[in-house]
Amino acid sequence: MEALSPLDPSSFARPELALVTDIELNLSVSFEKKIFTGFVILKVQKLDESTNEVILDSKDLAIQKVTELDLNIDVKYEIGEQVGEFGQKLTIELPSKSSKNYVLKIEYETSPNASGLQWLSPDQTSGKKHPYLFSQFQAVHARSFLPCQDTPGVKTKYSATISAPAQLTVLMSAIRDHIRELHDGKLFHFVQDVPIPSYLIAIAIGALESRKIGPRSHVWAEKEIIEESAFEFANTEHQLQTAEAICGPYVWGIYDLLVLPPSFPYGGMENPCLTFVTPTLLAGDRSLVNVVAHEIAHSWTGNLVTNKNFEHFWLNEGFTVFIERKILGRLLTPQEQDFQALEGLADLTNCVKRLGKDNPLTKLVVDLKGLHPDDAFSTIPYEKGQTFLRYLEEAVGGPSVFEPFLRKYFDTYKFKSVDTTDFKTFFIKEFCPCGKDNKVKHIDWDLWLHGTGLPPHIPDYDTIIGEVSVQLCSKLSSWNETAEPPPITAEDVKSMSASQIIYFLQLVLDEQSVWSIIKLKEVEKIFSLAKNKNSEIKLRWLRICLKAKWEEKIPVVLSWLNEVGRMKYVRPLYRDLYGWEAARSKAIDNFKANKRCMMHVSAYTVEKDLHLNE
Ligand code: BES
Ligand code: ZN
Repeated sequence: MEALSPLDPSSFARPELALVTDIELNLSVSFEKKIFTGFVILKVQKLDESTNEVILDSKDLAIQKVTELDLNIDVKYEIGEQVGEFGQKLTIELPSKSSKNYVLKIEYETSPNASGLQWLSPDQTSGKKHPYLFSQFQAVHARSFLPCQDTPGVKTKYSATISAPAQLTVLMSAIRDHIRELHDGKLFHFVQDVPIPSYLIAIAIGALESRKIGPRSHVWAEKEIIEESAFEFANTEHQLQTAEAICGPYVWGIYDLLVLPPSFPYGGMENPCLTFVTPTLLAGDRSLVNVVAHEIAHSWTGNLVTNKNFEHFWLNEGFTVFIERKILGRLLTPQEQDFQALEGLADLTNCVKRLGKDNPLTKLVVDLKGLHPDDAFSTIPYEKGQTFLRYLEEAVGGPSVFEPFLRKYFDTYKFKSVDTTDFKTFFIKEFCPCGKDNKVKHIDWDLWLHGTGLPPHIPDYDTIIGEVSVQLCSKLSSWNETAEPPPITAEDVKSMSASQIIYFLQLVLDEQSVWSIIKLKEVEKIFSLAKNKNSEIKLRWLRICLKAKWEEKIPVVLSWLNEVGRMKYVRPLYRDLYGWEAARSKAIDNFKANKRCMMHVSAYTVEKDLHLNE
């Protein structure tokens, strides 16, 4: 088997020998063939005198020709064998030359099955007239779009020229600087002048419209949902300004949002200049905009300071959740910040329960040798990571001490990639420079970073906002529904916020006991759950129904599963159906019929959840 890198277990690239320093894409899209064709120009710097090749990642790419442009000669290249989901190692010869700098032009085309691209036919869009294409490259799918050093340890600027049919708009994770009309289409040009890891390259093509929602922000979507989108995300500029007050200046120029079709596999993706979001955030009442706060926070944590490889993913996500909650805490109240943390703790507890408390994947720093990042993905780095940061913040004396430290950390490591040791060393240098006894001496780094299971310490969160949910849950839990009238009415819950209802449903779901269908029918009425538009509410409600083995709800679940691709919803629902004997075969049949319409990563993970590949 081809060796993976000693620096990154998810990549073949050897940037320490020869490093890609710049990327220039030139591609044209074919919706008929579901491919991109063209070339990429990579600037390469030889770092090790003794090397005479540069090693890249690729996945299902058809490479046609490689040329060294300074010398104007074709160079030899070799594509290695396929290594599972990691793709193929691409080795390109570096011809002898007086300089250590090379300019390689790689002519290639992508595969219709590229794992990082989702091709939608017109009938899968809202407008039904035009096809649509979007990318999702994190963690390691950029290699299915371009040959590159697909490791977050390498950061480069990029530019791109993309030609597309005239009726469509091309967007990328960059600044769009000009569009030219061609006789048979349009040419779009993009520049990303801040160095980024390959997983942050992103592209979407469709019949897209935009609305201005702030001085540096537009929201993009198909016209059918553009007004709803503009309403939902109207507070983006406030969130950006709050994030800047916490983290420092926003360096990316613009902050646009793109609302994708429902098959988008995540809630949000922090593509620079252009956050991608799922349309399941369109609740109609701005109740799910914490996802936008989260993606905004990534502008510092992840995009400016990047994890060196995905074993240190908590440095991206744990920090981001921590900042996301600080943003919400300032825009709303500190109680709200703690309430969100409390909800996160419920997710974390369930995740540890599901994985098992001794599972190595419950460590903050994980071992990804031989394990694909898509298989290791869980809420652990998010919630255990943010809990650790809360703990560190308390240990050093609270936000007034910790926030300036964070700004210094971002400023020191901006445009770079870091691992956990870099962070730890920086922290210790700031807070106990001479190693003498002080308030941070007692921190058990080893237990936090390399211990399994729940965090060693849970902060004392303010629980006030969640109290109404706890009371309701216990009232309804002890209600004898066959003998007594309901202990509450719709009037009693009218003033509850969406998050309080979400938390209530989470508590019901996590109860040991299973509520009867009679009881659930009352709950459905009291909370008007059947027509609720909030996808977080819907997820928990449908899971409660499945837990109660409420058969009528199976078709409701299946139809939602065929509509949305967001893994946060699809995976638990499929797992629940799988766990219920009477629903298992329906789930499997439904998945098999719908699989082609799902993005690779969703289909790949659900297939495992349904044990179809064993
Ligand atoms: N960067 C992640 C999404 C991601 C992670 C994609 C790993 C591929 C591999 C994004 O910022 C994220 O965390 N999204 C969450 C938002 C939530 C935590 C507020 C999501 O999709 O639900
Ligand atoms: Zn994130």
